[in-house]
Amino acid sequence: MPTTVLVTGGAGFIGSHTCVELLENGYEVVVVDDHSNSSPVALERVAKTAGRPIAAAYRADLRDRGALDSVFAAHRIDSVIHFAAKKAVGESVGMPVAYYDVNVGGTTSLLSAMHAHGVRHLVFSSSCSVYGNADKVPLTEQDPPAPTNPYASTKWMCEQVLADTCRHLPELRVLALRYFNPVGAHPSGLLGEDPRGVPNNVMPYLAQVAVGRRERLSVFGDDYPTPDGTGIRDYIHVMDVAEGHRRALERLNDESGLRVLNLGTGVGSSVLELVSAFEQASGRPIPYEVTGRRAGDVAELVADPGAVKEAWNWAATRDLSAMCRDAWRFQELNPAGYGG
Ligand code: NAD
Ligand code: WQD
Repeated sequence: MPTTVLVTGGAGFIGSHTCVELLENGYEVVVVDDHSNSSPVALERVAKTAGRPIAAAYRADLRDRGALDSVFAAHRIDSVIHFAAKKAVGESVGMPVAYYDVNVGGTTSLLSAMHAHGVRHLVFSSSCSVYGNADKVPLTEQDPPAPTNPYASTKWMCEQVLADTCRHLPELRVLALRYFNPVGAHPSGLLGEDPRGVPNNVMPYLAQVAVGRRERLSVFGDDYPTPDGTGIRDYIHVMDVAEGHRRALERLNDESGLRVLNLGTGVGSSVLELVSAFEQASGRPIPYEVTGRRAGDVAELVADPGAVKEAWNWAATRDLSAMCRDAWRFQELNPAGYGG
């Protein structure tokens, strides 16, 4: 029997790429997504890219326990990958309760359904944002969490809920992956990042400037204590993130309880380096202007990817030019995203 994986938020940016990775490696995939931040078209593209269909897709809110029960009753789920969440840092400051409700409430609803149906394996989407204003890089999993906004707090709170639940239910096997900055797209150009409204994140914004949807990029500050003064981040190709999830599934049985791992490359790139890499990848100039710093931004966030390397003998392999090339291919082929 093939392994069946329930992917929550499977139509989203990282979820859709992970579904392809799972389908291409023989897993059966069941998706639950309420499409509050994604298009059902992404799931059609998943099947097209992988060359085979997902087993089932349910449009449902994770907080709806009745709907979750029906999904677990209809499929023999072996493992769960839990992506579904609200993820905009700025938005979370204005609507913290909605973030706790969806991100923490969605996770407890899922855990309780898993418990009721005897499902013991979970991979959870956490975030480098739990580290907050780190005063040194690279960051290891031992560095203390210090979230600085409600979104990051929900991720840290979920990790604590998972840790405590694992303490009391020793049959659980949970991996929380703290992604740094996932960017890029599937190399086919069929799947990519399609944010609603004005992109919050730099890569989709850059891509929309390159394709002519937006006039210029605002570079948020060039007075940071970094070599060119702009913020440094650890960008990681979404295909590496997807591959990391397949590895995580394979390694869930290694230890009981909760294990927390960074998912990054260990390589930091500045905003201006990213602009230049994108210009090269797209062959188009990217107009930009330096504006003031964005509230809440830090100078530098880079992962120490050593723990994942040691645990799985695995590391991300795709570089910044591949990230830009693939993000650009998706944008060029889908100038209006999945809605076009
Ligand atoms: P995304 O918004 O593209 O995907 C999330 C998906 O979950 C969407 O399809 C959305 O419709 C769905 N969803 C949201 N609330 C739901 C609910 N209550 N019930 C059912 N479905 C719901 O985001 P993404 O970039 O693919 O991120 C996936 C996960 O990774 C999130 O948990 C996010 O916090 C985490 N993460 C993302 C990044 C990043 O930079 N993209 C970095 C670190 C961590
Ligand atoms: C990257 C760099 C900006 C936009 C966010 C979340 C984090 C995680 C990853 C979910 C920074 C600069 C940005 C723009 C710019 N997500 N920038 N102009 O803030 O590092 O991380 O995504 O868990 O929690 O906070 O990513 O892409 O917004 O910014 O100059 O229009 O680009 O200042 O230096 P960030 P980002």
